[in-house]
Amino acid sequence: MSSPVASARTEIHCHLLPGIDDGARDLDDSVEMAAVAAADGTGTILATPHVRSDFVTDVSILPELVEELRGTLARARLEVEVHCSGELGHELVGRLGQLELETIASGPPGRRWLLVEAPFDGLGDEFAAATGELRARGFGVVIAHPERSPGVLDGHCEALGREIRRGSLLQVNQWSLTGGHGAEAESAGLALLRQGRVAVLASDSHPGWRRPTLSVGAAAARAAGLDAGSAALLVTDRPARLVHEGMSAPVASAARAGAGAASCRAAASGAAGSYYRRPPASASVPFPSGESGTSVPSPKGGSSTCPPVPDAAIGSSPRPESPSSGSGWKR
Ligand SMILES: [Fe+2]
Repeated sequence: MSSPVASARTEIHCHLLPGIDDGARDLDDSVEMAAVAAADGTGTILATPHVRSDFVTDVSILPELVEELRGTLARARLEVEVHCSGELGHELVGRLGQLELETIASGPPGRRWLLVEAPFDGLGDEFAAATGELRARGFGVVIAHPERSPGVLDGHCEALGREIRRGSLLQVNQWSLTGGHGAEAESAGLALLRQGRVAVLASDSHPGWRRPTLSVGAAAARAAGLDAGSAALLVTDRPARLVHEGMSAPVASAARAGAGAASCRAAASGAAGSYYRRPPASASVPFPSGESGTSVPSPKGGSSTCPPVPDAAIGSSPRPESPSSGSGWKR
């Protein structure tokens, strides 16, 4: 699998498939979204319809829809590579068979992962049980827009710290960083970014708003104080490696996860201030190289032993395959 444009950006969260969720209403919407993405420099898109009880529950329809869309985009001469994926609601995990999960997973055999939607009522025990089940079934977990879960850095910080320590990666919506999801999501997204915990930025694009322009995410990361290379990592290298090389799914011990929660809580205490809104122009925020457990500066100058992005989990040697693994813009 290779990207049609070597230096292009990679989008891992986009409601591009027509007529099956609250994303593209028809093929015209899909083509328009793909054209906007391509013009902005995106070469690869994971099509991630909502796979949850109020939208798609039969994922067997998705590969054919992706094939149809690929043909349409080719006829429109749009050089965008589209892959079948999904934004999985945690409540469906126990109801989907292994082949169904495989249908919406990404990455090569042995390094498959799933995009799991962060619940809008917080990362509770059911969410933790679902991600635990996914890991037990051989999948890595990328959590979609955790910054949109209320209180993610205070009351639910323990849950987020546990997920990170168990190997989950965080995908923040770029539009959260620019205030598109409200002040709380903006503060939380910027805090996670500056604490070095964001693996990937994505647009979570829907027609009508949240355009699939990853250049916005890179610019927002720069505005938050990341250097150009670190900002580019979030929309180019890391998402591309996730798609083409996959991720591992380490599971930390409960004791270690508990230790992480305490220090995560300490870091979060500096995460709620309005000072995230406008960093000084000279702000220099080191971006961690990815060693698990590396101490990183917190936004108010303290430090945290919560792990930053575990880059080693992205695109390294494969883990053993699981037994069953096979081969106008609106909200
Ligand atoms: Fe989404």
